[in-house]
Amino acid sequence: MTTFARIEELGKHDGATVTVRGWCTHLRSSGKIAFIVLRDGTGTLQCVMVKKEVDDLTWARYADCTLETSVAVTGAVRADTRAPGGYELGVTTLEIIGTSPLDYPIQPKEHGIDFLLDNRHLWLRSPKQRAIARVRHEVEQAIHDFFYERGFLHVDTPILTAAIGERAGLFETEYFDEGTAYLAQTGQLYGEAAAAAFGRIYTFGPTFRAEKSKTRRHLTEFWMIEPEMAWYDQAMNQDLQEELVCFLVQRALTRCAAELKELERDVSKLETVVAPFPRISYTDAVTTLQAKGSSIQWGDDLGAEDEALLVADHDRPVFVCNYPKEAKAFYMKENPADPRTVLCADLLAHEGYGEMIGGSQREDDYDKLVQRIKEEKLPMDAYGWYLDLRKYGTFTHSGFGIGLERTIAWICGLPHIREVIAFPRMMHRVRP
Ligand code: 4AD
Ligand code: MG
Repeated sequence: MTTFARIEELGKHDGATVTVRGWCTHLRSSGKIAFIVLRDGTGTLQCVMVKKEVDDLTWARYADCTLETSVAVTGAVRADTRAPGGYELGVTTLEIIGTSPLDYPIQPKEHGIDFLLDNRHLWLRSPKQRAIARVRHEVEQAIHDFFYERGFLHVDTPILTAAIGERAGLFETEYFDEGTAYLAQTGQLYGEAAAAAFGRIYTFGPTFRAEKSKTRRHLTEFWMIEPEMAWYDQAMNQDLQEELVCFLVQRALTRCAAELKELERDVSKLETVVAPFPRISYTDAVTTLQAKGSSIQWGDDLGAEDEALLVADHDRPVFVCNYPKEAKAFYMKENPADPRTVLCADLLAHEGYGEMIGGSQREDDYDKLVQRIKEEKLPMDAYGWYLDLRKYGTFTHSGFGIGLERTIAWICGLPHIREVIAFPRMMHRVRP
């Protein structure tokens, strides 16, 4: 009976004979001893084949191994403190499963980013990409755990929608006889309906923005997590955001130490991420920025450079609160203390990573919301159901959206978010 083992679980098989299946990543032979380094997605393993210990056929198969040849290697698991995972395999048999021609596109040398993105389906096999994927997986799981532990209900909201949520570009499609449908820019409006039904909810889904921005922070398809809480005001909303971000950073630090090391992340920059985060009003931020030489005027949205300037003096993310109404979406609640502004905050990651979270208290006054929909020239008939949430038992409620890719790029210390998702969608890229 063959025992198949994955590389990460070889510790359970110390001394036993197992078969490991994977892809060759490094090959080296002295003519008497051959070394095959295998990758199987869970780790890497050095397999050692000694010519005089194997039959001729097995030895001859080594010559057919090339970069990315898939193989099944059988042998004894031996503890070896020098080996990457702590074990190596003393080979007794080697079977070639799939050969790999010598023109494998990604070679151990520097490649340009466009070339790598064109070959994303193969680039994913590299150790760095595996590390990023594992951090992403851990962060996604941590998000579900965070909300599950706090009694939030996970609600899936539609991708095809008629109501426009944000002021970003829209992807449109004809929807049978119903007119134009849009790919969701946000799940929030539906999240609000769910909060009135279930109390505290969160959404976790893909969102789409036809933004013609070629920055290192923009994808046209990205994943967003949007909690929405009945009876939360904006202060409570920000407390929750702070708690979530600290939770995610701690989780990555404790469970992804090896991956962060692979990514050469300076984790001291994450260890300082503890609550409370500074809360700066937009108005004060403008004053600070002007003093630092920015040309920003009250009323403008913060540009990427402004955001970087603002967080430069901080060792943790920073909230910028209460933006001017004109700079933000229609659904944000007017600030009673200064009606030119709304009760909202953007959470800016430090180290210049920019906006990671956008959140607000929602306008719960029926008439004010109608007024805002008119001012924004949005099609009133698409918002009838949304206005019903204010008509039938309006309620104080707040929520936010955290961008998954931006958060993970920041945790991993990556300069661009395109590597954080397996198959990035950008203005000039829809394949592979
Ligand atoms: O600030 P945004 O547009 O807020 C909303 O969509 C609200 N409906 C959220 C809410 O209150 N429920 O987007 C929220 C976050 C941003 O802070 C950013 O992290 C991310 O989504 N994001 C993007 N990430 C990658 N590519 C893009 N094009 C993004 N646009 C926004
Ligand atoms: Mg925003």
